[in-house]
Amino acid sequence: MEKMDKYSSLKDRAFSVLKENIKEGYNKALRKKYFYISPDRFHFHQWFWDSCFHSIVMANFNPDYAKREIETLLSVQQEDGFIPHIIFWEWRLRDKLQRWWKKEVNEKISRCFTSEVQPPVIGLTLLLIYEKTRDLEFVKSNINKVENFYNYLALKRDPDGDGLISIVTPMESGMDLSPQYNIPFKNLNHDPDLTKKRITELLIRYKEWDWNLEKIFNASIFDVEDVAYNTIYCLGLEALSGLYSHFDKGKSTRIGERAIFIKNKIVEKFWDEEQKIYFSIFHQSGKEHKMRVKTISSLFPLTLDIPHKHLNHLINHLKEEKEFWSPYPVPSVSMDEPSFGPLTNTRYLWRGTTWVNTNWFIARGLQKHGYDNIYKELKAKTLELVSKYGFCEYYDPLRGEPGKAMRNFGWSTLAIELIND
Ligand code: GLC
Repeated sequence: MEKMDKYSSLKDRAFSVLKENIKEGYNKALRKKYFYISPDRFHFHQWFWDSCFHSIVMANFNPDYAKREIETLLSVQQEDGFIPHIIFWEWRLRDKLQRWWKKEVNEKISRCFTSEVQPPVIGLTLLLIYEKTRDLEFVKSNINKVENFYNYLALKRDPDGDGLISIVTPMESGMDLSPQYNIPFKNLNHDPDLTKKRITELLIRYKEWDWNLEKIFNASIFDVEDVAYNTIYCLGLEALSGLYSHFDKGKSTRIGERAIFIKNKIVEKFWDEEQKIYFSIFHQSGKEHKMRVKTISSLFPLTLDIPHKHLNHLINHLKEEKEFWSPYPVPSVSMDEPSFGPLTNTRYLWRGTTWVNTNWFIARGLQKHGYDNIYKELKAKTLELVSKYGFCEYYDPLRGEPGKAMRNFGWSTLAIELIND
């Protein structure tokens, strides 16, 4: 009884955090109404994958809000299927001074959004909204747009034609300063400031090229096939295949086959036989190079039907106390990496802190493959973090405390998704 009460108040708090961050209005330049939940008070705008996570949780409380947030995201989709990573529905004075963001915008298309993408969580989101609402009409009226986004990725973001998607900036991965990206930037001492400098230089070049993808891929300064990004892409295709099975069997089969093809490519190209883990790849001078830094991205394929032998190795890495099984797992960088840290005493993101959204993916993988005991431990630790410190942007993987992380942070409400099982 006591447990149930504790969790019901946690759910109430999650709903409040999401509600507090609602933004609603009309954008004159885009001539569109909008409704979304910002990540927190300071991140005022609409971020692609944050919105997907918010909708997944919101579908438990107010399905109408969840649907409106997704429809707002889809409303800015471009003809070629592109959906941006940040939408600035309202530019405040302080955003106009944000030099980094301005470089991510291509004014020739619109000053209201960036030219980048983020991890394609939207397929899975559509499936989860359906599972929670059983609203097939909502699915039918949005699935083509979602599918077009996946088609955009396949057509425009796969310069080597192997089926795997390339990202062109670290921000596209959603894990901005993840130390795996230090490798293409030749920052082998893992200095986060140097990577930030390299990112700024990269954005200046891209801006000069009007974010023209052909020029960007030809220059190949940052052309990364990321493990987590491609795993989420594959999960999205699987979700679309599942949804189409309700009303278009042919399409369901075709997209299902595409998902299997991508999964096989992930296994074939990212598996590292030496370290028995998955590593992302970058392209430079016409060659492919593995980025051998163990990060949370390396564990993502455990959400897919990968070979059993690989699964066992990933579980070993996850459960190893020198690597990913910290007192508050799962750290975004393996603890035995020289690039682990700094943690919550800085705003260098994804250098080893624990994040609830990635825990949610890992937990789903553990559950899918029947690793019930580890699943229960991860669930308990994640719920302990949010119960003790509130819904924060990230947490210290060793001590739990959130330090300089944002408070009342939307996607950490995903923790309540773990309560019901
Ligand atoms: C940071 C994160 C990114 C997130 C954004 C808004 O840039 O790295 O994943 O989408 O903040 O929360």
